[in-house]
Amino acid sequence: LRDLTGAYAISAITTYEPHTIYAARLSSPLVIGVGEAEYILASDPTALMEHTKKVIFLDDYDVATITDTDCQIHNLKQGRPANHEAELLDYDNQQVLLGDFPHFMIKEIYEAPATIRNATLGRALPKQNIVKLGGLESVEQQLKYIDRIVIVACGTSYYASLVGEYLIEEVAGIPVEVQLASEFKYREEPFSRSTAIIAVSQSGETADTIAALKKVENFGVLRLGIVNAVGSTIARMTDAGVYCHAGPEQAVASTKAFIAQVTVLSLIALHLSEGRTKHFKPLLNELEDLPAKAQEILDSAEDIRVIAERYKHYRDFMFIGRHINYPCALEGALKLKEVSYIHAEGYAAGEMKHGPLAMIDESFPTFAIATNSTLLEKTYSNIQEIRARKGPVVAVATKGNNHIHNLVGNVIYIPETLEHTQPILLAIVMQLFSYYIAVARELDVDKPRNLAKSVTVE
Ligand code: AGP
Repeated sequence: LRDLTGAYAISAITTYEPHTIYAARLSSPLVIGVGEAEYILASDPTALMEHTKKVIFLDDYDVATITDTDCQIHNLKQGRPANHEAELLDYDNQQVLLGDFPHFMIKEIYEAPATIRNATLGRALPKQNIVKLGGLESVEQQLKYIDRIVIVACGTSYYASLVGEYLIEEVAGIPVEVQLASEFKYREEPFSRSTAIIAVSQSGETADTIAALKKVENFGVLRLGIVNAVGSTIARMTDAGVYCHAGPEQAVASTKAFIAQVTVLSLIALHLSEGRTKHFKPLLNELEDLPAKAQEILDSAEDIRVIAERYKHYRDFMFIGRHINYPCALEGALKLKEVSYIHAEGYAAGEMKHGPLAMIDESFPTFAIATNSTLLEKTYSNIQEIRARKGPVVAVATKGNNHIHNLVGNVIYIPETLEHTQPILLAIVMQLFSYYIAVARELDVDKPRNLAKSVTVE
């Protein structure tokens, strides 16, 4: 093992010791499930859930020697035994089973109301007018001196973080910069100690995000995590953090994790604002009402399926949005391309005239986010420009907006909500839209080609 370089998670057995398994990891995840008279190795605890909820997370340089009755762990770097206690994960067994759903993706989309509830449970307390984040209690003093936040993440988690940028800046008034973890790690930039870095990750095992955190290891900055997978590498390497509590996500396309991440980022924004913002009370109250609104969208999923069916044959798709819904457009495009293999681009609606409009014709539809906001009139103009080029448009609007039918044939409605909470409801709509297109194209929605659930290599 000392001769190996790079990242690995391996297990080996020899004919000389047929009752012993050796396992080791470096930068790639490896967990040991502790069952009834058995040990099971996996790269992700979700894979173990049907067998056991008791797991041991191995650290870098750990080597485990597992026999029929025993599991000893030695850390090669420290040259001594590693005493890892087995942890009991509180996953509900039902969460890893399909139940009556045909795919995990749709099952996980339907978990949106519960996801919002679980992320806010015991944290958003509108009656007491506070947001309580137990995971940040140990760093409360340091948080008071933070004047800049850098968020690092990949893929869907990156788009959730971009939504978080609007939330934290507008609600808490702290400047935020979101960076792709794969880019951040190669940049040289000035960092002051009053900067906090937040890693956002569903799996907690994404190699690029881990590398980004490692980069700032000796910078003396506060390292926080917004992680879904309990006990994962990122959860363990950060100083403090807030778990998403979304439960295991199994479809490769991230759905409920995005909902949970944006919900947690809203809570962090509220918490950092210390109540000193006009947004505090309305946002705190709205988070309580949001699960019911998410359910309303799911109850009309059939309308979205019917519209998706009309668009399944297109080769390209444009997603546009403004302000906090601009990152939603980016996420909508990612979702569509990963599950349906349709080329999709996300753009800030105001950018259309600066180039992308050239591509629009009757063969290039647009998914326009046109929900109630101070910028709605501007989005109408963008839609008109697209319609003038014969571009088909699907719009998402807020219930009660009848004017939109004068511009667009296909409209999907979401319930009235605050601008700051629209991304959560919009995400459900776009996830359903992508799902139904992929199913109509008879694709393997849960396991899109060329992709893995956790990207544990750089
Ligand atoms: C999302 O649908 C993707 N499959 C992917 O972009 C994912 O969000 C990304 O790899 C980051 O994963 P993480 O949240 O586990 O770090």
